[in-house]
Amino acid sequence: MNNKLKQIKSYWNRQPCNINHSNKPGLSKRYFDEVRKKKYFVENHILKFADFKKYNKKNVLEIGCGIGTDAMEFIKNGAKYVGVDYSDESIRICKRRTEVLKLTKKNAHFVIDNCEELKKIKKLKKRFHLIYSFGVLHHTENMQKAFNQIYKIADKNTEIKIMLYAKNSYKKFLLNDTDYRYEAQKGCPVVYTVSDEDVNNLIKNKFKIIEKYQDFIFPYKIKPYKNNKYIKIDHFKFMPKKIFNLLKKNIGEHMMLKLKKI
Ligand SMILES: C[S@@+](CC[C@H](N)C(=O)[O-])C[C@H]1O[C@@H](n2cnc3c(N)ncnc32)[C@H](O)[C@@H]1O
Repeated sequence: MNNKLKQIKSYWNRQPCNINHSNKPGLSKRYFDEVRKKKYFVENHILKFADFKKYNKKNVLEIGCGIGTDAMEFIKNGAKYVGVDYSDESIRICKRRTEVLKLTKKNAHFVIDNCEELKKIKKLKKRFHLIYSFGVLHHTENMQKAFNQIYKIADKNTEIKIMLYAKNSYKKFLLNDTDYRYEAQKGCPVVYTVSDEDVNNLIKNKFKIIEKYQDFIFPYKIKPYKNNKYIKIDHFKFMPKKIFNLLKKNIGEHMMLKLKKI
């Protein structure tokens, strides 16, 4: 493990993703319920993108499952789920979350693995109907290596759904905004963003694009948001929904990719 990968592991062990989405007592049902509520209130577009119900009885691999919010939805909806994350602490929380929510452990398999290698996943020799990765690959040192591993694991029928941070996004215009956030990822050792050209290079000779679009703008003030109060930043307060939707489509922060192996 090189120095950068060590930093990545240690950062996400210290600060698993969305760990502060609730201040209810640690790792209780109330805690996880609140984490879920906050996640899908703010990132509602995940529900349509992931389409959890579609994967009943299907093999799903999630790369970078974090503390398992999407994982639990796949499992609840009957998927045969395998989740990978580089953060040992996140995987520990996912296992605990499966128990606390009383979900069947038979279809919930969590593995600590590096998405640039996926050694343990390859050993499973499983065919996956879906490979899903939401907001993960832009946090690893070498995104291309991760795409190469997905190529190795996928077959031509595997649906591949990936969200990466978009370069041409609303965030770009806010660099000087003090109320702005990369706060959730303060000190994060790696945060890439991708342009259309970057995507083309990452998938070159490996994947074809089934669907690609930008979505998601975070419209809330950070300080109240941290205390579960959703107060919109002034310029979003009076913006017509139609305009907001247009902005999301054109300069949304998330680059949503549906791919197939060629
Ligand atoms: C922003 S979080 C997203 C987590 C989850 N997908 C979600 O939406 O809540 C990024 C995740 O990527 C994981 N990660 C970063 N680098 C990784 C790597 N090289 N291999 C596997 N997981 C990695 C982190 O541990 C972290 O859980």
